[in-house]
Amino acid sequence: MLCLYAFAVCLLQLCLVRGLSVVPAEQQPLESLAGGGTLKRFAADPLSGWDVDHILQSAEEANADVWNVGPSHVDIYFPSHIDYLVSPLSLVDVPHVTTSIPRPHIEPSSSEFITTGASWNLTSLSNTTYHSAYHPLYEIEGFMQELESLYPDIVQLACIGHSAEGREMLAMKISKGTPSSKNQKTQAGVVIAGAQHAREWIATSTALYIAHALVSDASEPFAMSTLLESYDFYIIPVPNPDGYVYTWERDRFWYKNRQIIGPNEKCVGLDMNRNWGHKWKAKARSPQGQADSELSKLDAPSKGTDPCTHWYPGHRPFESPEGNNIANYITTLPGLRAYIDLRSYGQMVSTPFSYSCKKVPKDAEDQIEAALGAIRAIKAIHGTVFTTGRLCRSLYKAGGNVIDWMYAKAGIKFAYAVHLRDTGTYGFSLPPEWIRPVGEETANMIRFIAGFIRGKPCECLADQSYRVPEASSTV
Ligand SMILES: *[C@@H]1O[C@H](CO)[C@@H](O)[C@H](O)[C@H]1NC(C)=O
Ligand SMILES: *[C@@H]1O[C@H](CO)[C@@H](O)[C@H](O)[C@H]1NC(C)=O
Repeated sequence: MLCLYAFAVCLLQLCLVRGLSVVPAEQQPLESLAGGGTLKRFAADPLSGWDVDHILQSAEEANADVWNVGPSHVDIYFPSHIDYLVSPLSLVDVPHVTTSIPRPHIEPSSSEFITTGASWNLTSLSNTTYHSAYHPLYEIEGFMQELESLYPDIVQLACIGHSAEGREMLAMKISKGTPSSKNQKTQAGVVIAGAQHAREWIATSTALYIAHALVSDASEPFAMSTLLESYDFYIIPVPNPDGYVYTWERDRFWYKNRQIIGPNEKCVGLDMNRNWGHKWKAKARSPQGQADSELSKLDAPSKGTDPCTHWYPGHRPFESPEGNNIANYITTLPGLRAYIDLRSYGQMVSTPFSYSCKKVPKDAEDQIEAALGAIRAIKAIHGTVFTTGRLCRSLYKAGGNVIDWMYAKAGIKFAYAVHLRDTGTYGFSLPPEWIRPVGEETANMIRFIAGFIRGKPCECLADQSYRVPEASSTV
């Protein structure tokens, strides 16, 4: 059934032939998925010398897998307890909480899972079953195809290039075309991207939910189609298709892309979100205390990061074909005013810059004002509390970040990194029942930002305006 569907789609859209035909559904080697490890939340203890930066430094030296950084904690994942015991981090003498991460459950393997587009029935945002599960790449491509065929006047798929392993990368343009009225200004462009880091599945699911909300009939709860009167949207749900497939087939918590780094490098993949071409640094992370001017001296490739580490930023900016494709696509798009980089987890809306806290964007005031409204808009839907700040503070200083490039190089004034739910209870294994509520609150955030950039505040801050009494479960 699926193959027939895949073939039909391939005939319709040559672009997808490779992506769809190489991933038969029954070949999910579920047993080989990594998981079942331990997540440790280290509480910063500056009195004993272990501030956040010091813990991060030790993590980097140990090539540990940092999942989340908060104002006073660092979450670090160990694939097994043994990995923790042999790690230098076992010597970090601060209070920490340990959570067992269950072996990731790739749901559902029932017949409902292997399904055709028809049974999702995308004609209704509220009634479709699509947003109740995470989906492998071929089902995401199926979703995008079906949205295009249901709404041919509004949705247009674009192939924006190939990934390192040769997969087609897809973007969706969602637009009602040129403004109808002559005195209307040109459409403003808004770009929304899903997970660059392969394991951040909720970011990709949320990008798909927003695409669906944008085309849905305005009478439906949470529909965003009225925004198309003044905005064009460009959505890239899977910026890292190779990594995403790898999280389904091999390692649920894979982070980087899957490119071969060089003939003499034994490790695969670089951190796409440290590989953008603005203030790229060979060093993965800049210690918070260090002066920015000193940092530039560390740029020599000889002092670069070990390619095997999680945070490997590449030999040079835009080494990753995926980031390069997205950048090339962005430069062809007119009137871009906002770039929303969806991520997880941590519940934060962060503004530029990532590379430095000393350099403040000239638009910082507007960016922060919009971000403060954005988190109120998120809260208005299900009460979820987000924080805001500049990315260099809310996370850590790191060069080559996408929002720095989008702001400084592509000239997109409102460039945000949005870490979605949660704050660490489930982390990257956010239950699929949360896809809808996360989509709903994020949609309201987009609605707010869109209104803000047009100087037309929406009503999305009033608690009742978009809260629907029988909305999907408030989790
Ligand atoms: C999809 O749902 C709509 C209304 O919600 C219905 O009219 C239509 O028949 C459904 N399509 C399929 C293929 O079930
Ligand atoms: C969704 O399903 C409900 C209940 O079956 C139905 O009343 C409603 O019309 C459907 N909505 C759409 C937009 O199809």
